[in-house]
Amino acid sequence: MPRMSRTVRAYAITAEAVAREKERVGGDLDKMDVANVIQLDKLELREMGPKDVHVRWLAVSGEHNVDHAALADTINIADARGGRIYPGNSALGEVLEVGAEVTEFKPGDIAITHCNGDPDQFGFPLRIWAYDQPESVGWYGEEGVVGAWQLIKAPLDCGLSLWEIAALPLRAPTAWHMWRRALGMFRLKVTEEQLPTLNVLGFGGGVSELFLMLAKHFGHNAYFCSGSPDRREALEKLGIVGIDQKQFNRFASKDDVSAFRKHVSQITDGGDAHIVCDMLRGPVFPAGLAVAARMGVNTSAGWQLSQVVQYNTTVMSVKQVTLDHTHYDTIEGCHEATELYGKVFKPTVHKEIYPFEDLPRCFEEMHQNIQTGIPIIRITDDLPDSVKGII
Ligand SMILES: NC(=O)c1ccc[n+]([C@@H]2O[C@H](COP(=O)([O-])OP(=O)(O)OC[C@H]3O[C@@H](n4cnc5c(N)ncnc54)[C@H](OP(=O)(O)O)[C@@H]3O)[C@@H](O)[C@H]2O)c1
Repeated sequence: MPRMSRTVRAYAITAEAVAREKERVGGDLDKMDVANVIQLDKLELREMGPKDVHVRWLAVSGEHNVDHAALADTINIADARGGRIYPGNSALGEVLEVGAEVTEFKPGDIAITHCNGDPDQFGFPLRIWAYDQPESVGWYGEEGVVGAWQLIKAPLDCGLSLWEIAALPLRAPTAWHMWRRALGMFRLKVTEEQLPTLNVLGFGGGVSELFLMLAKHFGHNAYFCSGSPDRREALEKLGIVGIDQKQFNRFASKDDVSAFRKHVSQITDGGDAHIVCDMLRGPVFPAGLAVAARMGVNTSAGWQLSQVVQYNTTVMSVKQVTLDHTHYDTIEGCHEATELYGKVFKPTVHKEIYPFEDLPRCFEEMHQNIQTGIPIIRITDDLPDSVKGII
């Protein structure tokens, strides 16, 4: 029987650590070492309530919101949350104990999380768990106490490895929601009879990869524009065409965007991209609009390279292009996305599975953009028998 404790080791980001690192590099975000900001801390688990579940975390995935929290580039979330956050909103764990009113889980079950922190009246998150949801404690630690509503049974027999399953809890629902919306919008304008097969293009990143897997699964042409040869190669094995983003200098100039537009036009036989997934914005945004087909949809749930964009409304009106902004899925949507693990979602996992102690290094390597897939951190060596067959 695994050890049950009330004080566990967990990673934290403090406003003080952010300020110290910023000062060290003279305010230059590009020089910040994220590993100096994410630090091992202690966490006192809250008392179990009747609807709670006590979980021992086995593996977690590295998520980009942690990079944003450590850099404080979007907002200084550690400061806004009172000086300290415990990050981590994508995790897989073993249930140790359940509250008196919990019927869906029992000790020994393997569960994954979702990060919808505060559903609005339609079920979509107002806030994200372990980020801007007040008081929310994240899961980059040894153990956690969560509400049963935050867990979903892990589909251990879906054909994916434990690490691949652990890669998906945050990114898969994001991609699933974006895909349904983008396709729905396009289909409002152009019917299946008029154009059955769409050209779908995504820019580098785990969410885009999953988005393209959905497009391919539903019979469309999919194109992955990324600077990483490893990630392109992994997607090419699934029939998703790679485009080297560095060949177009990551769209540094208008000429690069023009060359990219010509290339996309050529490989789509003049059809251009009916749906574009852009989680990055910045220079990627004008490139995504330039390749949009008439009636196209450009969807995003991220702003990694910039929060503010500019576009020509006249041109977009004439082309009838829709810009969509999404965040994260409903809890029901997270359950649906989980059913697609292995059938549709076959994530590329970074070649190193990081040990718990090296979690800060994992985030610095994510920051440097040198990982070959979604990074996974193994929290413990002591894995239960139920998962030993899928390691
Ligand atoms: N709202 C939500 O629910 C939600 C959910 C998930 C993610 N997000 C946000 O969406 C963004 C992407 O997340 P993710 O999980 O898909 O990504 P990810 O797996 O962490 O990958 C980040 C990608 O960024 C690309 N990149 C890095 N520097 C770049 C640059 N200078 N120019 C162009 N591309 C660059 C890299 O692509 P290359 O292969 O081209 O190098 C890399 O694959 C993040 O900002 C994240 O916070 C939001």
